[in-house]
Amino acid sequence: MGIVQWATSPWGQDVPIHIAFYLIWVAAIAGLVFLIVHAIWARYFAKAEVFEGATPPQAAARVPAEVPRHSLAARLFHWIMAAAMFALLITAFLPRVGVPFAWVTYHWIAGIVLTVSILYHIVHATFWMDRWSIWPDKADIEDAGRRLKRFLGQPAPPPRRFAKYPLENKMYHAVIVLAGLSVMLTGVFMMSRVRTPFFTRNPYLFSDMTWGLMYVLHGLAGVGLIALIMVHVYFAIRPEKLVITRSMLVGTLKREHYLEHHDPQRWVVEGKSSQASAAD
Ligand code: HEM
Repeated sequence: MGIVQWATSPWGQDVPIHIAFYLIWVAAIAGLVFLIVHAIWARYFAKAEVFEGATPPQAAARVPAEVPRHSLAARLFHWIMAAAMFALLITAFLPRVGVPFAWVTYHWIAGIVLTVSILYHIVHATFWMDRWSIWPDKADIEDAGRRLKRFLGQPAPPPRRFAKYPLENKMYHAVIVLAGLSVMLTGVFMMSRVRTPFFTRNPYLFSDMTWGLMYVLHGLAGVGLIALIMVHVYFAIRPEKLVITRSMLVGTLKREHYLEHHDPQRWVVEGKSSQASAAD
C-alpha cells in the first residue's frame, strides 16, 4: 500500500497520477490524535508558564489597554484566506470520502481567491509590515533550549517573554507557507488541464511524469493542510487562546495578556498609555 497511485501511460511508462486517497484519513486521524494528546497534557500535566524577570513598571505604564496587533488589511487577508482554504479542503476531499459532486469549478475558483490573497499578503507583509517579526530569531532558539531543559528537569533560567509572535506560531507559519505555496504553485499549473474562461486547455504542457509528480505534490500538501488546519482551529478555540483569536477579529490584544506574555523591548507598541486612557 503506497502513498502514490500509479498508472501506465500510452507509451507504457509507469507514471504517478495522484496520492493514494486513504491519506485523507491518515491526516485527519493524526490531527485528531494531536488534539487529544495536547488537551490531556494541557489539562493534567502542563505547568504554569514562567518567564524571566518582570516588565519594568515604567515600560508597563506606557502600554495601552488595547494593544494594536493586526491591521484591518491583515485581518481581511486572514479571513478571506481562511474562507478560501475551507472551500478548497471541502471541494477537494468531500468527493473522495463518499459525497460526489461537480467540484472542480468551485475548487479552482477558491484556488484563485487563495492565490490572489497570498500574493497580496506577500507584498503587504514585505513592504508594509515588520517582515522579520514572523521568523524565528536568536532569542527564540535560545529560549526554546531553556524551555526544553526545564521540561526535562535540567537546570536552566526561565525563557524571556515573547516578541510579537511566540516560536510555536512562527514555526506553524513556516510550515503553512511551505504547504500553501506548494498547493498554490502546482494548482496554478494544474489549471491548464481543466476548462476555465482564462485560456485554452492544454494538458500537454508537461510530460506525464511531470504532471503526475505535480498532482502528487498538490495532494500531499493538500492532505497535510487537513491536519494543519485542524490544529490551527483547535488552538484558536482553546479557552486560554481566545484572547488571541479575538485580536484577529477586533485587531487588538488585551493589555494584561500582552504584559504577561510579551516583552515590550522585543515587541514595541505605540498607543495611548494606560494612564492616559484611564484619564479619558
Ligand atoms: C487548501 C488548498 C488545496 C487543497 C487541499 C487542494 C486539494 C486538491 C486535490 C486533493 C486535488 C485532486 C488532485 C488529484 O486528483 O490528484 C486537487 C486538484 C486541483 N486543484 Fe487543488 N487544492 C488546494 C489548492 C488549490 C489551489 C490554490 C488551486 C489553484 C490555484 C488549485 C487548483 C486545482 C486544480 C486545477 C485541480 C485539478 C483538477 C483536475 O485535474 O481535475 N488547488 N486539489
